[in-house]
Amino acid sequence: MSAKRILIVDNEAKMRRILELSLKAMGHIVSEAADGAAALSIVEKQAVDLVLTDLRMPGMDGIALLAVLRERGMDVPVIVMTAYGTIETAVEAMKLGAVDYIIRPFEMETVEMAVTRALAMQAVQRENSFLREEVSRGWGAFVGTSAAMQSLYELIRQVASTRSNAFIVGDTGTGKELVARAIHEASGRTGLFVPINCAAIPAELLESELFGHVKGAFTGAVRDRVGKCELASTGTIFLDEITEMPANLQVKLLRVLQEGCIERLGANGTVPVDLRVVSATNRDLQQAVESGALRRDLYFRLNVVRIDVPGLRDRRGDIALLANHFLRKHALELGRAVPSLDSHVLQRLEAYEWPGNVRELENIMERAVVLCRGEEITLAHLPVELVHQPPSRSAPPVTLVDNEGSLNLKAQVEELECRLIKSALARSANNKAAAARLLGISERTLWYKLKTYKVES
Ligand SMILES: Nc1ncnc2c1ncn2[C@@H]1O[C@H](COP(=O)(O)OP(=O)(O)OP(=O)(O)O)[C@@H](O)[C@H]1O
Ligand SMILES: [Mg+2]
Repeated sequence: MSAKRILIVDNEAKMRRILELSLKAMGHIVSEAADGAAALSIVEKQAVDLVLTDLRMPGMDGIALLAVLRERGMDVPVIVMTAYGTIETAVEAMKLGAVDYIIRPFEMETVEMAVTRALAMQAVQRENSFLREEVSRGWGAFVGTSAAMQSLYELIRQVASTRSNAFIVGDTGTGKELVARAIHEASGRTGLFVPINCAAIPAELLESELFGHVKGAFTGAVRDRVGKCELASTGTIFLDEITEMPANLQVKLLRVLQEGCIERLGANGTVPVDLRVVSATNRDLQQAVESGALRRDLYFRLNVVRIDVPGLRDRRGDIALLANHFLRKHALELGRAVPSLDSHVLQRLEAYEWPGNVRELENIMERAVVLCRGEEITLAHLPVELVHQPPSRSAPPVTLVDNEGSLNLKAQVEELECRLIKSALARSANNKAAAARLLGISERTLWYKLKTYKVES
């Protein structure tokens, strides 16, 4: 279990010390308070995973502390410690929502067990509430209500209801694997969903990964092995980055699909398989076929239905939803209160180009949750490229002159040059060297033109 923040509340300093030592020895981070009021001010300032409190204390006692925590909707688990003979108070505390009680005098082992149990229970509850939300949103793991995503869901539904092979095309991090899983889940096929990343497995191992082998088929084949194709029979095999599959294996795969059976390496005899293939690539599919990276005959087999997954920049309306989703997810995972998003942050997120798509957004939100110590994610928690991004969307678009305008060549060329320079500056966040590179001119020429055209920079 990762380190948790535990708050010990007890008016006896010696008791706090003993508990502190043993909880620290368990790897937790410990704060202390001498009464309920001090405890409350700590809980209000920082996220606490567990409170371990004495019941009888001068000032605000344990019961009052519990009552206030519940009243304020703070669901931090509380374990109460009570003296032998005051068990009714412990019962009262449990009714108020304490998760457990410990009777004094106790062995340290009893405390350790109660703490471990309470933290484990809390982790399960957090995960459950997250999963419940995921399920209640309907489309499994997908977040997004944009028109582009609605059509994607519709297409997934249609494809799932058939047996046709599907080809998913989209940039890195757009959610291709999520689409593949959704197709399998909605298809009602009873077998497994088996993903295989053709780019991640060395070519010499890929064949046996896909088709399996029998003992002794090659050096190192010490026992029989079932291949992914066989494993996915009656289910779905997901061939990720299929264009990276070596040509000889593409031929073999095509034969499997045509004949509906596979032959394990070194075996004599074939096994029938019932396969549904979903493939994916983040390359230009047409070009992959033309360049021969993907065999044309295999391509026709695999690309019965093509599914294009939109890039995040093409559905900016989903950015806020996704950002909040990932904030929640990672805050819960870290056992933190869920922070909110400052409006400037949202603006930057919505304006950014997102070359790494949803995966990049998730990473950025995870990083922000880790860095954020307060209740709000601000620009300080974003990576620098997001904060200092070029205002690309507000950059003047470069268009040709319309028919009504002047046709003076020199004036028009100058006008166009000026606009291109402004665009390049906007795109490179006013960095002259970068702008010059974009324009394909020297930095010195750029300076000269800036002066001539009196472009403010
Ligand atoms: N619409 C979405 N809603 C919620 N999470 C998403 C969505 N799209 C993608 N993700 C998440 O983003 C991450 C990247 O998605 P996924 O792995 O499916 O992308 P990919 O297109 O296969 O990327 P690559 O080409 O790099 O393999 C995953 O963690 C996935 O759960
Ligand atoms: Mg992928």
